[in-house]
Amino acid sequence: MTTIKNAYSPGTFLVQAQQLGQCLERYYAECQSLGGRTLPTLDPDRYVEMAEELLERPKADFRELVELALKFSHRLHDPRYMGHQVPPTIPTAALFDTIGKATNQGAAVFEMAPFGTAAEKALIQKMGQMIGWTKGKFAGIGTHGGTLANVTALLAARNVRYQDGWKQGFANSSKLKPAIMTSAESHYCIARACGILGIGTEQLIKVPVDKKRRMDTGEARRLLDKAKDQGLDVFAIVGSACTTPTGSFDNLREVGQLAKDYGLWFHVDGAHGASFLFSDKHRHILDGIDLADSVAWDAHKMLFVPALCTYLFYKDAKHSWEAFSQDAPYLFDPSDPQGMAEFDGGLRTFECTKGAMSLGLWGVWSLYGKEFIASLIEKAVENTHILYEKISKSNDFEVAHEPQCNILCFRYLPAEQKNISSQDLSSLQQKIRQQLLHDGEGYITGTKLNGEYWLRVTVINPLTDESHLRALLGKIRTVGAVFSPSSLPRGGI
Ligand SMILES: Cc1ncc(COP(=O)(O)O)c(C=O)c1O
Repeated sequence: MTTIKNAYSPGTFLVQAQQLGQCLERYYAECQSLGGRTLPTLDPDRYVEMAEELLERPKADFRELVELALKFSHRLHDPRYMGHQVPPTIPTAALFDTIGKATNQGAAVFEMAPFGTAAEKALIQKMGQMIGWTKGKFAGIGTHGGTLANVTALLAARNVRYQDGWKQGFANSSKLKPAIMTSAESHYCIARACGILGIGTEQLIKVPVDKKRRMDTGEARRLLDKAKDQGLDVFAIVGSACTTPTGSFDNLREVGQLAKDYGLWFHVDGAHGASFLFSDKHRHILDGIDLADSVAWDAHKMLFVPALCTYLFYKDAKHSWEAFSQDAPYLFDPSDPQGMAEFDGGLRTFECTKGAMSLGLWGVWSLYGKEFIASLIEKAVENTHILYEKISKSNDFEVAHEPQCNILCFRYLPAEQKNISSQDLSSLQQKIRQQLLHDGEGYITGTKLNGEYWLRVTVINPLTDESHLRALLGKIRTVGAVFSPSSLPRGGI
């Protein structure tokens, strides 16, 4: 066993930090040289066993433990990684985040993280203005993740509409049932929010999507007109920017107008897509976001910083106080003239202890500038369009939609297989993905669209280039030919 003195020794820390740096340097180099599998063989029982074994018999070798953890990590920094909406973080952002971890700053209370809290406030000021709102009028708060930001925003919306809801609850209410409207393809956390907030998932009205897989606003109006007859009081509408399966952006201007016409709270789930506000090239896709009452924005997706780092914005600053209502005088005392209520985020967040999550984003923005972050976003979108072009021109793939950002769904479908059943076609894609996971040469995901299974990529690694996209399609062809009901010719791209 080590001693307390040794564990807290600055010298020990420096040695370990240097070793960690060396291990990560090798890890990043291997990722970039495609020197191994993108993800390790998925053997959960063995990993748990290895981890448990070390808990029982601790090792004195820091480097060995780091290497073990890295060896069995998913390599998001491998340019063949095109999986979920989780980016390979800018390594420097992770270093800045380490400041908060190593010093354990608690950003719910200004006193516990003076600079961490200030960095969050500064980012919120800048990003809120990017939404199109006026400095001084809006407010924002950091939360641990987009799910929590969406739930919090809808809780604020609920409390604004039903002033006694926080204290009285809804159990014995004989009035119209509170309801929320969103697109049929919105993220599952919106339905989860309805469960959590006592709205009930059955009171989530899911509006069908149009050909571009965006909320059909004509249909939304029709459903709103019907809602009262069904005993519903729709108080909020959630626009997706963008949806998770296909990266489709709802027409926020139309949804915003509809919210105004019907007196609804307009929330934008911009977990993935709000970051496109950074790019002069792509900002237009968020036209109308300024009409929102609240916006959820994950920095740990398209701003390339480590999870979790999310911001929830309210157009009207006073709404930021509506979600929660509790007394904790030992922490926050709004009547205290020396109080920091404006900076003590804890009154406005679900979390009590909260990490200083903003240091990573503040650090890379301050070091490299906003344009650098925009360039990462633009590269991801450009790559997605290259892939889309390749697939569209090929004779053995089918694309599900034109990409609106860096998410694309497609499937392997050579001419000979055009008549296979929908079920077999889905099963073929599933087998292809399973084999890719097994072989470890890259990583993609899948999703269901209209009941059929499609391959899905989020092209999110800025080091991905045309050669990796070509290799992915080549690999799918090779695997697809093996699993196809009959032998297949190879299409050329
Ligand atoms: C549109 C959308 N909303 C919300 C979320 C949930 O965000 P988080 O994973 O940060 O909780 C996601 C995650 O992928 C998403 O795509």
